[in-house]
Amino acid sequence: DLFGSRRNSRGLELADEQVLEPLLTAISMAGSNFGTAASIIDGVDVKGASRILLSPIDGKTEIGRVIDADAETASKAVAAMAAGFRPWSETLAETRASVLERAADILEERLPAFLAVLALEAGKTLADGIAEVREAVDFCRYYAAEARRLFGAPVAMPGPTGEENRLTYRGRGVFAAIAPWNFPLAIFMGQTAAALAAGNTVVAKPAEQTPLVGAMAVRLLHEAGVPASALALLVGDGTAGAALTADPRIAGVAFTGSTDTAFAINRTLAAKRGPIVPLIAETGGLNAMIVDATALGEQVTDDVITSAFRSAGQRCSALRLLFVQEDVADHMIGLIKGAAAELKVGDPRRPDTDLGPIIDREQTEKLAIHVAAWQGKGGVLFSGEAPGDTLAGGTYFPPVIIELPDAEALDREVFGPVLHVVRYKAKDLDRIIESIAASGYGLTLGIHSRIEATVKRIVERLPVGNVYVNRNMIGAVVGSQPFGGSGLSGTGPKAGGPNYLTRFALEQVVSINT
Ligand code: NAD
Ligand code: ALA
Repeated sequence: DLFGSRRNSRGLELADEQVLEPLLTAISMAGSNFGTAASIIDGVDVKGASRILLSPIDGKTEIGRVIDADAETASKAVAAMAAGFRPWSETLAETRASVLERAADILEERLPAFLAVLALEAGKTLADGIAEVREAVDFCRYYAAEARRLFGAPVAMPGPTGEENRLTYRGRGVFAAIAPWNFPLAIFMGQTAAALAAGNTVVAKPAEQTPLVGAMAVRLLHEAGVPASALALLVGDGTAGAALTADPRIAGVAFTGSTDTAFAINRTLAAKRGPIVPLIAETGGLNAMIVDATALGEQVTDDVITSAFRSAGQRCSALRLLFVQEDVADHMIGLIKGAAAELKVGDPRRPDTDLGPIIDREQTEKLAIHVAAWQGKGGVLFSGEAPGDTLAGGTYFPPVIIELPDAEALDREVFGPVLHVVRYKAKDLDRIIESIAASGYGLTLGIHSRIEATVKRIVERLPVGNVYVNRNMIGAVVGSQPFGGSGLSGTGPKAGGPNYLTRFALEQVVSINT
């Protein structure tokens, strides 16, 4: 049994009315105001002036308030977690694991409340919200199992007679866990759960766009039994994050977000005196899919639509650059345009919505500028419909398909539902592979080909973290598809994989002359 005693969470059959109706009722009963997200230090909310949070669904529903942290709060949070480190790191791995499993159970019980806040604060559709809660649950259970495996007992290393060598893993100290808005629950909880499982205390900072989900997650972890002295919440923007990473008492940083911010954190860490602090960075991608003439049209269409437009393209793993072999390009592009025209953009709480809103106005404007530039050059092949009047204040963006003259025309991540297509000649495949490598990113890659040698050649040449063959290229499954990239896309290790927890740990070897 590949999974051992651990099983991933189960999905829901939304096509079944008997499942969907009670779920929708429970979601609406969760309401639309989620209170105030404040930083939490030693279990107590930090007071201060608050700002209103409005939903991206309509730009006017007040979903709660947030009290952004200043540098002093960041410092107090680190001080509290430094004080709490010893007792937590000395807690048995078994106990830490049980606490995380309890958190996973509570999370499953509270699914509707989390779906409500994920929709209203982060614009997640029902399907995306469910996938996100499941991923958070899976991370908690997976890292719990990993904590038992790695931290339970010392590993005996070989040595000559009369010598005993023991390798142990333990926590490093206070970890800063800094998360993005696009997986405000799964990634936020995943980083935090990993650091806690490994025996660290954690100052967890959600993105400034999604503090309500972050606060709910931290309260839940405390309720599950994570001591208040082992987990603090710091809500705020990049300034709070910068203050946190600049603190000399931080023993490690787990960051997921944009490549530029990873560079900024690297600079902050490098400028400090004191211990050399490890950075685990999971960042952006310029993800490609290569479709050759042997690929199956309908399957390619399904997989391209899912990979480029699911979650309104707001996934680090999403397809950005589609290479289609010239011989089949007109046919494939025609099918993809037809399927994109069927996509429904709108209120993410409606079960028939395919694309919810973009996270905020700033991101929407960036997308609009990008598409307008290609409109001017005649590159826009398709642009879908944005929703009508009732959602006029929301930050929506329709699916768009742009044809580029070559891969070099796109040199950075465009974070939304914009698919770029490039035609290539079979004889130029090596050049395409080189252009993907030359981008410097290495997160996800899709290949649609029924020629084994082609697949092998592409896979071997590209240092990409997650490769998907003849399927879509998003939604990595915890424990089955450990996730993360290389180069501009991240440092590794892979989240949801067997090497993740060791990077949060201090390794100690004791050699005894017996
Ligand atoms: P972002 O880099 O703007 O922000 C991420 C987090 O970093 C936020 O909490 C933010 O407040 C904080 N931050 C900003 N400046 C900081 C600084 N100087 N020091 C410390 N912290 C700072 O990213 P985002 O817009 O929230 O998220 C989208 C990006 O995340 C995309 O590029 C996407 O590809 C990437 N992402 C990557 C993965 C992955 O696993 N590789 C997963 C999800 C998202
Ligand atoms: N793990 C997420 C995915 O694979 C980012 O889509």
